[in-house]
Amino acid sequence: MGRSAALFRTSIGLKITMALSGIVFVGFVIGHMFGNLKVYQGAEVFNHYAEGLREFGDPFLQYGQFLWIARAVLIVALVAHVWSAARLTRQSRAARDEGYRKLDSLEFSRTSRSMRWGGVALFAFVVYHLLHLTFGSVHPDFIAGDAYHNLVAGFQSAPVSGVYAVAMIALGLHLYHGVWSAFQTLGINGPRINRWRRPLALVIALIVAVGNLSFPVAVLTGLVA
Ligand code: HEM
Repeated sequence: MGRSAALFRTSIGLKITMALSGIVFVGFVIGHMFGNLKVYQGAEVFNHYAEGLREFGDPFLQYGQFLWIARAVLIVALVAHVWSAARLTRQSRAARDEGYRKLDSLEFSRTSRSMRWGGVALFAFVVYHLLHLTFGSVHPDFIAGDAYHNLVAGFQSAPVSGVYAVAMIALGLHLYHGVWSAFQTLGINGPRINRWRRPLALVIALIVAVGNLSFPVAVLTGLVA
């Protein structure tokens, strides 16, 4: 009883860590997508928005401080999310090795495997995305301070837009399952809420994925130039 109870507690603790850090990302990707919609209002509005992120909080915060606070929160959430995912993976492998294979239904293990690989792919995407649109080191024509130009020039390359499109589909799938299971983990369930869990997860995943997919499509079709 002692050991299995401890294991149970640990895995629940890890899942709660995953859910809470995941909520930080959900908030970020929704906010980031809506912020990026300003690209449809033209260069001036978009660049003003990007600059506003740095001026945000004035006079209480200094220039750029808000952005650094947001970055710190995201980094802490990332470490917590990856660390708990790795530990949960190790635990479930150990349980399987001890002959508890039947505890995992086939569908459950397929979903958790795709969450793991999806997570690894999204991590790789975020690294690429930062090198592309924040640091500009893998961008062919990066102009510091001109986020609109960087976005448009970046997506004019079809292979780059393709990478973003694949990543946004992976993000949509990860969000759909992640939001749904966060409700489960945090005990936000019950007959009335259960009816809304899948539709809500689906709506969040679709808003983020479709909104983000629209940017490379808009550039490649010449709608945003
Ligand atoms: C097509 C979809 C996306 C577009 C068009 C986009 C656009 C941008 C742009 C233009 C910047 C630079 C902003 C600036 O320096 O002023 C940026 C930064 C960033 N993006 Fe995205 N983004 C997209 C998707 C994502 C996704 C899915 C994630 C996370 C999962 C993400 C995470 C970030 C992060 C962490 C930063 C750095 C913020 C900072 O520290 O300055 N982006 N994005």
